[in-house]
Amino acid sequence: MYRSASGEGSARLMRLGFLVSHRGSNFEAIFQACVAGEIAAEPVVLLSNNAQSQALEKAARAGLHAVHLSRKELANPQEYDAAMCSVLQEQEVDLVVLAGFMQKIGPQVLRAFRHRIVNIHPSLLPKYGGQGMYGMRVHQAVLDAGDTKSGATIHLIDEEYDSGPILAQKEVLVEEGETAESLATKVLAVEHQLYVDVLKRICDGSLPLESFSSA
Ligand code: GRF
Repeated sequence: MYRSASGEGSARLMRLGFLVSHRGSNFEAIFQACVAGEIAAEPVVLLSNNAQSQALEKAARAGLHAVHLSRKELANPQEYDAAMCSVLQEQEVDLVVLAGFMQKIGPQVLRAFRHRIVNIHPSLLPKYGGQGMYGMRVHQAVLDAGDTKSGATIHLIDEEYDSGPILAQKEVLVEEGETAESLATKVLAVEHQLYVDVLKRICDGSLPLESFSSA
């Protein structure tokens, strides 16, 4: 169980803030694991850059604070970064969980949540990461390269896309006749398990994020 930095004796659950752009199946898997007590954490807010995101609806239905931060209304990147930081800080978020968030995280949020922002990527990083590598493009690149395995990676976030220290990976086999769609389905199932497992370990203190250098 997480203890607040203030060192006050009583332990409290780690507060999770989610950043999601579209579907939100990883968010759902994590949320359910929190409700089931498998992850000792309390989801408190979900933030999206996309008003149509299914994840916003799912979060609102689950009783979470669900916030759309519009790129149109906050056109200046610094303003956007500051608004995101305010929402996360107002909700007293301890750990920021990116689950399909299609935007770079700004410097203010990076500074305020150093070592406290995690992301999932649907490949075995450092392979098939970086700008423009998302969704089916990743799985098609794996097939085009003739790789015999792929998988999912959980890593800390830094200034670049998909390049922070790796926390955990889980592999899947690329089988005969595999398509980008079938590979995506297999990798997504593994993502849900891996994300729950890693968050469980972060929140019970057995995977301390401070020990990972982002130098
Ligand atoms: C996942 O494949 C994740 O690895 C990537 O975006 C996708 C999000 O899927 N970063 P979902 O919204 O959690 O269903």
